[in-house]
Amino acid sequence: MDTNQFAHTNGFLQIAIDGPAGAGKSSVARTVAQRLGILYLDTGAMYRALTWKALRHNIDFSGPNTLTQLALDTVITFDTATGRVLCDETDVTEAIRIPQVSENVSAVAAVPGVRARLTELQRNIARACPIVLDGRDIGSVVLPQATVKIFLTADLDRRAERRQKDLREQGLHVDLRQVERDIAARDDKDSNRSTAPLRQAPDAVLIDTSNMTFEEVVEEVLALVRRVMS
Ligand code: DC
Repeated sequence: MDTNQFAHTNGFLQIAIDGPAGAGKSSVARTVAQRLGILYLDTGAMYRALTWKALRHNIDFSGPNTLTQLALDTVITFDTATGRVLCDETDVTEAIRIPQVSENVSAVAAVPGVRARLTELQRNIARACPIVLDGRDIGSVVLPQATVKIFLTADLDRRAERRQKDLREQGLHVDLRQVERDIAARDDKDSNRSTAPLRQAPDAVLIDTSNMTFEEVVEEVLALVRRVMS
């Protein structure tokens, strides 16, 4: 093993999982973290929590300074035992998944000041313990020295089907074509913003999950981790 490998990670294992919307990053990241007995950080939930708060306070999504100030004034925490997400002590675990948040989150995530604040928080958490993070810019910007980097993707129609199933389980019935349009629009915004766009880091391993089962994906990620650690 390269002895400098963990030099920029405080010696802790850091697994970065990035990719477009609906690729299954959160479920895979959570399961990998559980199996390894380490922390999982859903960075998308942080952008969503801020968007939820901006909607609640009727904040203008075209005002970068107001959104940056909001990011500085907001405390987002995760209950590691239960996986609940708290925004200024309000439990927003379900509220951040509603379509209105999904429709507006890319505008909030495009603001450089918001990204700077959340990136700082994410780095501080990742410096303190072994961790799996999922998002859009973890391997490319947040943790460029991460131990293992994965870019998880799947065909758009497969991602839309999975997202529709997730929404159905939450009691929301949305037309498949509409889900497909929504995630394509979000990917387009996330890929074309000027700060930290959705990109595969050059040293990330690409996993196309279109024809893989969930368990196969988890096993492939764990195999990569074992290979790097051995
Ligand atoms: O992973 P998700 O769909 O819950 O993420 C919600 C949005 O947050 C996504 O459209 C882009 C943004 N995001 C980001 O810009 N950077 C991250 N590291 C994580 C999410």
